[in-house]
Amino acid sequence: MDANKSRKLSLMLVLFIQVLAATLPGCFLGASQQLPIKKPEVQTMASHGHGFGSSLYFPVTGNVYPDGYFAVSFSIGNPQKPFPLDIDTGSDLAWVQCDAPCTGCTGCTVPPDQLYKPAQGSFVLCEDPLCPVIQSLGETTCKGPYEQCHFHRSYADGSSVRGVLVRDNFYLGIINGTPFQPSLTFGCASDIQHGRHGPPPTTGLLGLGKTAANIFSQLRVENVIGHCYSAKGGGFMFIRNDPVSSSKVSWVPMSQNTLAKHYASGPADLLFGGAPTSIKGLHVIFDSGTTFTYFNSAVYEAILNLLSKDLNGKQIRQVQDPDLPVCWNDGKPFRVLSDVKSYFKPFTLGFTRTRNAQLQLTLENYLIISEHGNACLGILDGTKERMGNINVIGDISMLDKLVIYDKEGKQIGWSSANCSRIPKS
Ligand SMILES: *[C@@H]1O[C@H](CO)[C@@H](O)[C@H](O)[C@H]1NC(C)=O
Repeated sequence: MDANKSRKLSLMLVLFIQVLAATLPGCFLGASQQLPIKKPEVQTMASHGHGFGSSLYFPVTGNVYPDGYFAVSFSIGNPQKPFPLDIDTGSDLAWVQCDAPCTGCTGCTVPPDQLYKPAQGSFVLCEDPLCPVIQSLGETTCKGPYEQCHFHRSYADGSSVRGVLVRDNFYLGIINGTPFQPSLTFGCASDIQHGRHGPPPTTGLLGLGKTAANIFSQLRVENVIGHCYSAKGGGFMFIRNDPVSSSKVSWVPMSQNTLAKHYASGPADLLFGGAPTSIKGLHVIFDSGTTFTYFNSAVYEAILNLLSKDLNGKQIRQVQDPDLPVCWNDGKPFRVLSDVKSYFKPFTLGFTRTRNAQLQLTLENYLIISEHGNACLGILDGTKERMGNINVIGDISMLDKLVIYDKEGKQIGWSSANCSRIPKS
């Protein structure tokens, strides 16, 4: 794999970085601004009479390396067509690349036959209550109630997306023998600006953040979501209409401070090989839309120091690798992570000041074996990636764990799990 491709890996880290509205590139749908529209029908799971008391599970594809993302495929529209969406708990809006005319915009990144074609009646107008909610996190506004509702989102890798909101049926599976296909509002993205990591790898993004834009918030269920990504690739995600009650799950409260718009927690102290380190009081965001884990420069340097001190005197030495900035080898190519077991110790994030929960970072949660046979650090310098002081727990550190985002209970939980095995609904 070439260096460019590997740079793509950390693509969808999402932090709502706002840019001035004056820089609007002027991408608007050519279609009439006065389209007829379906009245919003709020469909809840309960109103379907499903007595939805358990969970809906969805298989997930992808891996940390080399693909760099995990995606779920939902069929949308009539006739149904599948759209692989990058799962992103770091942003709030679902969007798909869309076949809609636009002027002065860069357009889409997937072939035309993979685009979503909105039907005439599916456009959401400004009068819709979700429109201002979704617009409040972007840089578009409405001039009148019967205009199409435009949206905009920008992400921490410098990428951004624009388009209009549409409402269409999402096929979410069969409940009690009946297809469950609620009508949900999402973005029809016709202008996609690449960030530092190139074009998005999927036809769309499944923003699962905390706002009402989240398609599962629109279902008006209790809104417990979770994912389980396997280190071997694939896995599953789920939504639940009832809280998870398992004694095996470690829970930490969601931060209610400045990071509150994200799924954040802390403070946590870092342990290395079970021993305390000088790295304490970390606040972290759990973001399934980020491939690797990012710490701010000071923490990152301290982690490099711990590792190099510990590896000092061992057979292994640091080598150049086109895929990631810090890699090691001992003279012969590594094939699997167990080849480096004798060299590396696990890290632990100890949330001792809240509920004594520990997030174990085994070797697979912070190292990858590159295609060049090196062991590479899957922890990166977030300050260098212009993420400021924010620490992000990315996909790599959530592998082989069931990670639960309980918005209602204001807590984040995890337990170790076999993510290759999808539980029965
Ligand atoms: C995980 O589940 C899969 C599928 O059931 C099974 O093949 C595999 O052996 C399990 N792995 C572990 C470590 O239990």
